[in-house]
Amino acid sequence: MASIRPRSLPFRALRAPTALRPTCRLHITPRSTVQQKSQFTRNHSTSSVSADEVSHFSKLASEWWDPMGHSRVLHLMNPLRHEFIAQCLAEGPPPADALSPGSKPANLHYLDIGCGGGIFAESLARTIPLDPAADAPTPTRAASMTAIDPTTALITIAKNHARMDPTVDSHLRSGKFRYLNTTLEDVLASEVESPSESSVTHPQYDVVSLFEVIEHIDFKTTTPEAFLANCLRGVKPGGWLVGSTIARTLPSFILNQVIAEAPWPIGVVPRGTHEWNKFVNPSELHAWSQEALIRAADTAVTRAGAAALEGSQWKCVGTIYVPGLGWKIVPGSEDWGNYFWAIKRGV
Ligand SMILES: C[S@@+](CC[C@H](N)C(=O)[O-])C[C@H]1O[C@@H](n2cnc3c(N)ncnc32)[C@H](O)[C@@H]1O
Repeated sequence: MASIRPRSLPFRALRAPTALRPTCRLHITPRSTVQQKSQFTRNHSTSSVSADEVSHFSKLASEWWDPMGHSRVLHLMNPLRHEFIAQCLAEGPPPADALSPGSKPANLHYLDIGCGGGIFAESLARTIPLDPAADAPTPTRAASMTAIDPTTALITIAKNHARMDPTVDSHLRSGKFRYLNTTLEDVLASEVESPSESSVTHPQYDVVSLFEVIEHIDFKTTTPEAFLANCLRGVKPGGWLVGSTIARTLPSFILNQVIAEAPWPIGVVPRGTHEWNKFVNPSELHAWSQEALIRAADTAVTRAGAAALEGSQWKCVGTIYVPGLGWKIVPGSEDWGNYFWAIKRGV
């Protein structure tokens, strides 16, 4: 496949990342950087978005729903996402999921960040029951799905595709399923009434998903730590942030850049899709998410410390793409390349 954006020499990536990505860094920055909502939002509401990435993904939009096209690996990965989320919900049900007599079986609200053309978002929306009192057809317990992406062409493709399924279309019309051409930063900058405290806060969701996105944010204007902290701000206490990404290792360089981006018929994604030095190791995600949770619980006068992690959970499992067979969950392979990860906020 033709290269659609300029690439640096591959081996530059192998020596580049140390300045950008100290492994498992737990640095302390002034508290004001997390406490002021404005740090990541005010005047910079699209700061995590790279114009190059938007341009790259815009060019892929028309083929997004072709199961044999360049999004093939995402289509093949989708059933594993549902499986992984089901495991998270079974191991750590969000408070809204603790069913009391009379409560609705499908009561979880989802946010899909960087939804692309809607492969996961649409499949999740299909599990929202038409009758709110009915059982959800899968363990998702989904009551609603809000899917956001900064790439306009992808949101258009996503909406058009969703309208073809009467059930999903009906959720679009009722507002239970929403596609928004917006950024996480803008969602967090918007205000909603807090149900418990009758005060104004930003929107929060029971399950926030971030599949194959963190390695595409703009490292010139933000950091993966800051982006992750923002993702966690969108999670309700007791809810889950789940995602998938790629570890920054020599095998992942060979697999995801040299082989996966090789010309057809070897390659499975378009050249220029990935930058190896933007891949994130599981240990980094774990440490950054813990730091974000601790700092989010700090107040002006007290530091929350490790107590802020009480009730939180971390899950991580490797996935391997086997040509001809698709994706397989392979515990232990997470430090090599592709993996699913999840963090549950304490209540
Ligand atoms: C590899 S695609 C993954 C799409 C989808 N999550 C999936 O797995 O099917 C990466 C997506 O991230 C989006 N993206 C890039 N930068 C982003 C950012 N800063 N915030 C949110 N989404 C972003 C792109 O527009 C693109 O749709």
